Amino acid sequence: MTELQMRVNGVTRTLDIEPWVSLLDALRDHLGLTGPKKGCDQGACGACTVLADGVRINACLALAVQYADKEITTIEGIAKGEAGTHPMQEAFVRHDGFQCGYCTSGQICSAVGMLTEYAAGTPSAVTPAKAAERIELSDDEIRERMSGNLCRCGAYNGILDAIKDVAA
Ligand code: FES
Repeated sequence: MTELQMRVNGVTRTLDIEPWVSLLDALRDHLGLTGPKKGCDQGACGACTVLADGVRINACLALAVQYADKEITTIEGIAKGEAGTHPMQEAFVRHDGFQCGYCTSGQICSAVGMLTEYAAGTPSAVTPAKAAERIELSDDEIRERMSGNLCRCGAYNGILDAIKDVAA
């Protein structure tokens, strides 16, 4: 067992875990944060997406011990400091960006991280010159940037509309 301290949703948490435990299992099984979902457990579906220092990662592919010095944000903490919900959560509701909802926490975390990455001009931004501009992504650019998050119900049009609503 390894004692690990992690910052999760603004709170320092202490875990006793084996060093091979994934971040997803640490969040779900050790900290009771079941918002991040286990879909494929292989990095293919995006249901487990969380933010590490604001950057989206697949928690199923990460070892918890690798993230001891990062600020982890799950869907449970994405609205911190705001009035209960994040604007992206509200937009998903407005635009029916879900059906069964299993992928939704990952979709929302990914969408928030994607817009943050774009605004910050990280290597995933279209061009560095666009970083300081208002976020103007084409539908295809949003689809490409969200391609790591699958929705088996096919709610992609609503998800796209929700992200465009927030990005506008
Ligand atoms: Fe992590 Fe599918 S559960 S990508």
